[in-house]
Amino acid sequence: ATTRHYKFDIKLKNVTRVCNTKTILTANGKFPGPRIVAREGDRLVIKVVNHSPKNVTIHWHGIRQLQSGWYDGPSYITQCPIQTGQTYAYNFTIVGQRGTLFWHAHITWLRASLYGPIVILPKLGVPFPFPKPYKQVPILFGEWFNADPDAIINQSLQTGAGPNVSVAYTINGLPGPLYNCSANKDTYKLKVKPGKTYLLRLINAALNDELFISIANHTVTVVEADASYIKPFETDTFLITPGQTMNVLLKTKPFFPNATFFIAARPYATGSGTFDNSTVAAILEYDSPTNTAFPSIKRLPPLKPTLPSLNDTPFAFDFSRRLRSLASVKYPANVPQKVDKHFFFTIGLGTSPCAKNQTCQGPNGTKFSASVNNISFSVLPTSAMLQSYFFGKSNGVYTTDFPVKPIIPFDYTGTPPNNTMVINETKAVVLPFNTSVEVVLQDTSILGNESHPLHLHGYNFFVVGSGFGNFDHNNDPANFNIVDPVERNTVGVPSGGWVAIRFLADNPGVWLMHCHFDVHLSWGLRMAWIVLDGELPNQKLPPPPADLPKC
Ligand code: C2O
Repeated sequence: ATTRHYKFDIKLKNVTRVCNTKTILTANGKFPGPRIVAREGDRLVIKVVNHSPKNVTIHWHGIRQLQSGWYDGPSYITQCPIQTGQTYAYNFTIVGQRGTLFWHAHITWLRASLYGPIVILPKLGVPFPFPKPYKQVPILFGEWFNADPDAIINQSLQTGAGPNVSVAYTINGLPGPLYNCSANKDTYKLKVKPGKTYLLRLINAALNDELFISIANHTVTVVEADASYIKPFETDTFLITPGQTMNVLLKTKPFFPNATFFIAARPYATGSGTFDNSTVAAILEYDSPTNTAFPSIKRLPPLKPTLPSLNDTPFAFDFSRRLRSLASVKYPANVPQKVDKHFFFTIGLGTSPCAKNQTCQGPNGTKFSASVNNISFSVLPTSAMLQSYFFGKSNGVYTTDFPVKPIIPFDYTGTPPNNTMVINETKAVVLPFNTSVEVVLQDTSILGNESHPLHLHGYNFFVVGSGFGNFDHNNDPANFNIVDPVERNTVGVPSGGWVAIRFLADNPGVWLMHCHFDVHLSWGLRMAWIVLDGELPNQKLPPPPADLPKC
């Protein structure tokens, strides 16, 4: 194992997409940001220097951060922001993980332009558990907003209304030819040779939309999700929620000179609100023949794939159910077989009262909000929770009485649900070291149908069950899969349904769990776990680094 050094200079840059030039935040002037490449077991030291006028933090999404919680990155949870002119060196080791993850800003909506891939190769000499790819290609999906994303969310929080949606999706930063005003140079092209296997490392870095993705005339083999190997399966269409990553093998056809195909994506949108329903496309382009035997074959316009309709929940549900851990001798699925603590969390949108001197544009003059068990974590503490916890100064920062089940009983089949009200609090759950945890996440779908990509920091979890309607405490657990459930860091909680996850709390620190739709996150759909130190020295969180930013 080696130590790999990177430096991110955070600075503003003018970038033009879909006929609009805008000043965005970048790392090293790149959009999307620089690629991080490492091997399992390596240490990464990434020096982030903030030359921009905004406060920033960077989160290494999906990296377990074993005993290195100070470098996780969510603002005011594990660290205070890196202010203008300041530097913070993130420093962590990649333990027991290989695959594709990504990094992104974790403060307000700066993730809109500040994100990039993390490629973790297996240890030297260790093969993939699938055919060796000829080439590996990161493909990042994102969103392009014409306005400043920070202004969009601030306006939404002030008026209580839903925020403006993006004007385009992007593939590796480019919107592609299906948008008006997209030039050829605005299109990402993947040039391929016939008869080869490509490993596509797909990342959904979009702010607010799950995406259906398909490549015209091609099927792919899905081999990995959230940097965990899965049992390979073939499909021509897949779904990736914000926060999820997926490795797929694309075997190119043996003979297809000059052919072109669209790689296209558009949202799976269950909400009743406004959303961007546009389609982004990149182009898969086969080589021209190297000999002159086929000079007459001309390039034709690319073929389009068929994507599921916008609200195709059955496809979404079936697709998620197809993902199973590889669960081999080499890569076992260490699913907690017993549970020490059960939690039942309702998650969803709600409303909260408008302040006296405000006019709110949410439902019936209220403010949109979102919550876990009716508790909306919409106002961030003024100092970082992890520091407050570590130095025993939680007073006024957070309390530890987060409820194990909803404050207002939830019944999805009942008369109009009455638990739309939320209270604004910063609460956490305290877990002793090595607690085996099960959480049932029940979508409330109170304000129309909504799915929620739930992301847990500091851990992978196993998705042991899922279903529609009310979770049945008596009967559903009997059907849980505790043999080969998929292991991941982000799960789509189905619209009007539930998922059950399990994890072993073996990583001390303060860990955020939240919806990876930035709008729901801003509205308060987040909570925090505090995992206590264990007895042994290697079960404790070390003290903070000297350069940890101050608030
Ligand atoms: Cu990818 Cu808390 O985030």
